[in-house]
Amino acid sequence: MTDPREPKQAKGVFIKTYGCQMNVYDSERMRDVLRPLGYAPVDSAEQADLVVLNTCHIREKATEKVYSELGQLKLLKQERGGNLTIAVAGCVAQAEGAEIMRRQPAVDLVLGPQAYHKLPEMIARASRAVGDRLETEFETLEKFDALPKTREADGPTAFLSVQEGCDKFCTFCVVPYTRGAELSRPVDDIVMEARSLAAQGVRELSLLGQNVNAFHGAAPALTNEADWTLGQLVRHIAKVGGIDRIRYTTSHPRDMDDDLIAAHGEVPEMMPFLHLPVQSGSDRILKAMNRGHTADHYRDIIRKVREARPDIAIATDFIVGFPGESDADFEATMQLVRDIGFAIAYSFKYSSRPGTPAADMFGHVPEEVKDARLQQLQQLLREQQEAFNRSKIGQTVPVLVTGKGRNPGQAHGRSPWMQAVHFQYERDSGVGDRDPRVGDGDLKGHIVDVRVIDASLNSLTGELIKVREAAL
Ligand code: 5AD
Ligand code: SF4
Repeated sequence: MTDPREPKQAKGVFIKTYGCQMNVYDSERMRDVLRPLGYAPVDSAEQADLVVLNTCHIREKATEKVYSELGQLKLLKQERGGNLTIAVAGCVAQAEGAEIMRRQPAVDLVLGPQAYHKLPEMIARASRAVGDRLETEFETLEKFDALPKTREADGPTAFLSVQEGCDKFCTFCVVPYTRGAELSRPVDDIVMEARSLAAQGVRELSLLGQNVNAFHGAAPALTNEADWTLGQLVRHIAKVGGIDRIRYTTSHPRDMDDDLIAAHGEVPEMMPFLHLPVQSGSDRILKAMNRGHTADHYRDIIRKVREARPDIAIATDFIVGFPGESDADFEATMQLVRDIGFAIAYSFKYSSRPGTPAADMFGHVPEEVKDARLQQLQQLLREQQEAFNRSKIGQTVPVLVTGKGRNPGQAHGRSPWMQAVHFQYERDSGVGDRDPRVGDGDLKGHIVDVRVIDASLNSLTGELIKVREAAL
């Protein structure tokens, strides 16, 4: 007899993800809700019956990409005589759903980030050509509740969404409008998902949220306590068996409380990496951005974090050319970079987003000035990134192995500081094969000691010393 849960007929779904890690996570969850409907993930639109574009609205370029991709998909749909379902999800869907349907009639479904649990229902409706094709209500809690609490893991690292949305209203940013108000998941739900992932071999969890350190989720039911903070959550998840590494992203300087900072020093599972966007080093610009802190306040937080965990790698985001940014303001940003020393940073030219307060500000900076500033900033950031990577040469570092390399005896993984690490080991006589826990020499999912021999801008290279007995 066939299992009634078995899908009747395999169909292919191709999900193309743009933008942030929240979208990467959401794409995984969409795959999860589609699986029981018989949709198996495929690698290209050509192989798919359903294509989902999970979109990003943060900068203009990201948005424009969606429309050009939709143009391609329309042609594919025509070639197939209409036999292709096209869905647009994510933040562009949220922000301009009706516009998408108007500009590209080949689109079957438009769903915002809070509506993924409704995807099966919407697909059914689309196939019958009845009902609403647009779902962009804000119902974050309903989404969290409706999505399955267990998931299929894919490798030893995983994202786990703990919080969504943002109430900060930085004047340049669309997130508060596309993702809605801040909302945290209950600790019990998060722990259930963490356990399910750990049981499938996940060892490193990245706790995700647009403003993850503003986390204030309902405490475990048994405790009767008030809402927990991120610091409390991290200490709790560290106790989940099998979870050896914890990270969180992305945070806001205003929510960097003392307990969370202390956890960096006290919780061995907490990885020495902090992504704390600063955006600018000028107090005037920070004020116009409505960031709610000064450059010195940021320096202060980093000093405290480094006291708690001296080897911590600091990552950040910058925007250059915010309206009104003068040469002196930009120089203040450069000075902040020199003062802090970043392990990695993401920097962008300011992009005016319709509906945000900054779009209507005076003093928009000419494109060529933005270009020049971005180049100057990125040059300094690249130097710092390479110097940070090179500082690991000669050290033996614990690496979580994420897969095999191209040739036998090669593997790759991730350092505690989020660096990509490529390393060699002797397949026939070396540690990898001899270690009884490793089997056929596949080290994936193990934490191994690697001696770093060389480093470049984007990665470290080294050789295997040993497979660790204890995780950390
Ligand atoms: N223009 C340029 N960069 C932006 N970011 C957010 N909004 C904009 C915008 N309008 C950047 C910020 C944020 C990162 C995710 O994207 O640096 O931290
Ligand atoms: Fe956007 Fe600011 Fe919220 Fe970050 S904190 S998501 S930059 S509004």
